[in-house]
Amino acid sequence: MTMHESNATQKTLAQPRSERGSAASPAEAPQPDVAKLHLDPHVSYDAYAEVRAKAPVVRVSFSLEGKEGEGAPEFREFLARDHLFVTRYEQVISALLDSRFSADPRSAMTPEQKKKLPPLPEELRPLERSILTADPPDHGRLRKLVQPSFSARAMEALRPRVQQITEELLDDAARAAEERGEAAPDRAMELIKAFAYPLPVTVICDMLGIPREDREQVRGWTENLLNVNRRGRELSEEARSGMRRFTAYLRDLFAEKRRSPADDMISQLIRAEEDGDKLDEDEVLSMVLILFLAGHVTTVNLIGNGVFGLLTHPDQLAKFKADPGLVKGVVEETLRCWGPVDFISRRIAKEDLEIGGTAIPKGEPIMVGLASANRDPERFTDPEVFDISRPDADRHIAFGKGIHLCVGAPLARMEGQIAFETLFRRFPDLRLAVPADEVRWGDSFLRGIGRLPVLF
Ligand code: HEM
Repeated sequence: MTMHESNATQKTLAQPRSERGSAASPAEAPQPDVAKLHLDPHVSYDAYAEVRAKAPVVRVSFSLEGKEGEGAPEFREFLARDHLFVTRYEQVISALLDSRFSADPRSAMTPEQKKKLPPLPEELRPLERSILTADPPDHGRLRKLVQPSFSARAMEALRPRVQQITEELLDDAARAAEERGEAAPDRAMELIKAFAYPLPVTVICDMLGIPREDREQVRGWTENLLNVNRRGRELSEEARSGMRRFTAYLRDLFAEKRRSPADDMISQLIRAEEDGDKLDEDEVLSMVLILFLAGHVTTVNLIGNGVFGLLTHPDQLAKFKADPGLVKGVVEETLRCWGPVDFISRRIAKEDLEIGGTAIPKGEPIMVGLASANRDPERFTDPEVFDISRPDADRHIAFGKGIHLCVGAPLARMEGQIAFETLFRRFPDLRLAVPADEVRWGDSFLRGIGRLPVLF
């Protein structure tokens, strides 16, 4: 599906909740029927509107739209099963703040329940013990080590460098177009490849301290990894071998930084490792992998989705050009409307509990619908409208909530603001090079545009 909202969504959302079949009282109880969500290429916003209208917590299973034969059998089995899915803003927030949920399947589930989880490829095992799946007190210990690198002060110090990288990428795009004999305003670029992708990647590599001369090689090892799609979760042999090489490379790099530390995050994490029992090497590895991956895949989509949002909403683009001070609104409203993370796929009840009238048995994993909550008409007026001056856009929960709230959010916000401001200041004629309905969501497990051809 394209990024244009369908009339169906508008109709559903326009209906008051009380008329949508399952409002308060008995209808809030668990739904006996299983709602189908469409997983491929992306769960559509229409489907979220439908399940959100049913109840705050629904049982869903994912439809693969004819691709049932693809991917690992265990993963297909996982998708075919019912999942408890939290749909509404209020319950999404309370679930994420509730310490009776664990993010760690190893501690919160019985062996029987664990068998029902989707399998993780061997090469991604280091990620199994990461900050994302740690519970307190371990989680706090890991979080404290990285949080200072994303503080407001750290971001201000980084700002000139992010601005410089941004300008250089746009210089490169202009130069490449001129070398092809193109002239403004009809120069072409593929915005994801030329800009939205290399910007955050360069920034996170700088922050981690991955030497510049190694980056081309690192890119070769990791680019397949980032294409793990929503269906398969199966890694190609190429991606697996890339991951093995990247892991071996990182271990060598740790040894190098241990010998000669520098002013970067890897050196800091290693120093913490040496300072006592704060981190072991596997924890350093998993933290670096998480930061590297998160730094790659998410902000790319924020930039791509936001540029597309502006280019397909000319009134909003005109407003932004007239007042570039609205750039924060562009970032927040993009995250609310088309946040890169549709849902958090795993929180596990540590005891029997209840959300919005639905019983969640101990050990049961739930999915938490961030994108669904961000379009909840009970929280946001006209939620389907992209409005960069929406006063409460920043109340979106695209970065999650609670102890696992995205630690990289200040970085993503700064990158997004600099990207939008610089792009439209330097290339005010920027426009789509193809009809909008040809622009598709990519096949990645995050919500983002695969290719965005533009003219400038
Ligand atoms: C638009 C960009 C981004 C979005 C939408 C996003 C979204 C999220 C979300 C929803 C979570 C919570 C996951 C959960 O509760 O299970 C999260 C956690 C996290 N994010 Fe981001 N993220 C973005 C950018 C980044 C960047 C740039 C970095 C670092 C370079 C980063 C690093 C992390 C880390 C380390 C966590 C785990 C935090 C914890 O468990 O305490 N993210 N992110």
